[in-house]
Amino acid sequence: MMKKIYLYPLLPFLILTASFLSPVQAQNILRGPYLQSQGPHSIIVRWRTDSLTDSRVYYGNTLGAMTLHADSTTPTTEHRVLVSGLTPLTEYYYSVGSSSQVLRGNDSLLYFKTAPDSNSHVPVRFWVIGDFGHGNQGEADVREAYLRYAEKTKPADMQIWLGDNAYSDGTDAEFQNKVFDTIYGYGKLFTHLPFASTSGNHDYNSICPWQDSNGLPVLCNQDPNTQTGPYLNLIDPPTQGELGGVPSNLKLFYSMDYGDIHFIVLNSELGSYNAAYNWTGVLNTSQSFTSPMLDWLKADLAATTKKWKIAIWHQCPYSGQDNFTEENSVQIFCTATRHHFNPILEQYGVDLVMNGHDHNYQRSYLINGHYGGKSSFTAANLINGTSGKDSLGEAYIKYTDGPLAGKGAVYVVEGNSSEGNSYSPIDHPAIYYGQACNTCFGSLIVDVNGDRLDAYYLTSTDSILDQFTIKKEAWTGIAEEQAEFDHFYVYPNPIHHQTAVGYQVLKPCDVKIDVLDLEGRVVSASYSGTRQPGDYQEKIDFSKPQFAEGTYLIRLNCGGVVKYRKVMKME
Ligand SMILES: [Fe+2]
Repeated sequence: MMKKIYLYPLLPFLILTASFLSPVQAQNILRGPYLQSQGPHSIIVRWRTDSLTDSRVYYGNTLGAMTLHADSTTPTTEHRVLVSGLTPLTEYYYSVGSSSQVLRGNDSLLYFKTAPDSNSHVPVRFWVIGDFGHGNQGEADVREAYLRYAEKTKPADMQIWLGDNAYSDGTDAEFQNKVFDTIYGYGKLFTHLPFASTSGNHDYNSICPWQDSNGLPVLCNQDPNTQTGPYLNLIDPPTQGELGGVPSNLKLFYSMDYGDIHFIVLNSELGSYNAAYNWTGVLNTSQSFTSPMLDWLKADLAATTKKWKIAIWHQCPYSGQDNFTEENSVQIFCTATRHHFNPILEQYGVDLVMNGHDHNYQRSYLINGHYGGKSSFTAANLINGTSGKDSLGEAYIKYTDGPLAGKGAVYVVEGNSSEGNSYSPIDHPAIYYGQACNTCFGSLIVDVNGDRLDAYYLTSTDSILDQFTIKKEAWTGIAEEQAEFDHFYVYPNPIHHQTAVGYQVLKPCDVKIDVLDLEGRVVSASYSGTRQPGDYQEKIDFSKPQFAEGTYLIRLNCGGVVKYRKVMKME
């Protein structure tokens, strides 16, 4: 007979010991879930746990009845599950966990909406943030302003990151505490708002610091093909052309279709003083510079047939605040993108470029063909030099044919989503509007609907301080000069400094007077307003810098009846 052993006195010790020895622990989610590569038929769900397991996502159209599931069998703490076979433009609820346990589910905040089918033309909205990763009140205020705006109007289909996503070095802890955080960051939104992203210089600091501890430049000698790091590990972009576009085979840059839009995500941080990895052309002044990234860019843009083409990267090619973005400066990456990215984008008719880096908001006119410093910008670079506001009848037109077919892009700097700069006013002939101050925070809302793109600069205090519209239209040509129209005259002509446009209104009408160049570019919007019957005269100042010597057309629009007068500017 075995000797009876009384365990009761030892029980606390045994329980404590067993808790250390047991391989089974309660698994916890440390990050996410969050959503990547949002397509019409698939999406990637990511989350991080504190212990190794396989991965399972349950999903379905009804909360509490998610009967379908997708798995990844490799034990991991960095979970990644591709959910495929989905229906376009459809909402699904989902849960995350392992094959033996649901860690989070039956939760009304865990849902995703698939992208539109590639052939459908439905309105879509993007929420664009840049330089947002400070984990501060500014970041939270920008988020809350967006949520209030979304509540009043409609939510975004996708969030877009313009780089400098986590300050100051892009470490894993910084992404955790400043981006996935729920107080200042977006942790609560990521369960149902997918994001697409590019990286900024700060996101690379943990891989390739710009300076060493003595302030000396670091020769970043990592091969761009194999770069890894906290930022690159956390994203899951479509690098194989899964969502349209030519495969880049790299997370560093890629493209994807979303409804009527082709998104091009470029990388302004690639390359360095090390010539072998100089893919941005930062060391090259020749316009003919090429690299694996730029070769891919040309092939990708040549292949797309999408109506809208939108490019993003971090370091802004145009800035009216930061003089460092001019030639001969230390901001050589900004200059490199203007020299080497822009000509390719223009060749293929890209419509909108969005960048960060400068901690302010800036928005250009519809411009083309400018690759130098701001002193070299001329009227010839303005495809449309008006406000771009449809409410004033000045929406930017991207013609689908004719002499200006595909010409002109709007450049936006949205780099104040958590920090603002006030060190100088915004001043650049390419920039129509800018806002910069220490407490100026904001983000950009972009709506695309058929032939129309509308963008809104939304501040953290709920103001829309800038808005512009781009429309796609067929070229209808410039009418031949017509018979005298209600005493429509321009005097003096030729013009040295100032001229007057005279006309007689016979019936009340909305009058609009523009100055165009001979290719139809709007150089100046000179008058807009409602006129009662009577005789009028509007002055136009041709001494402004946008009027180089040459021939122009003055266009008078009175209630939709349009007439032109040819004028000559002489020095
Ligand atoms: Fe930056």
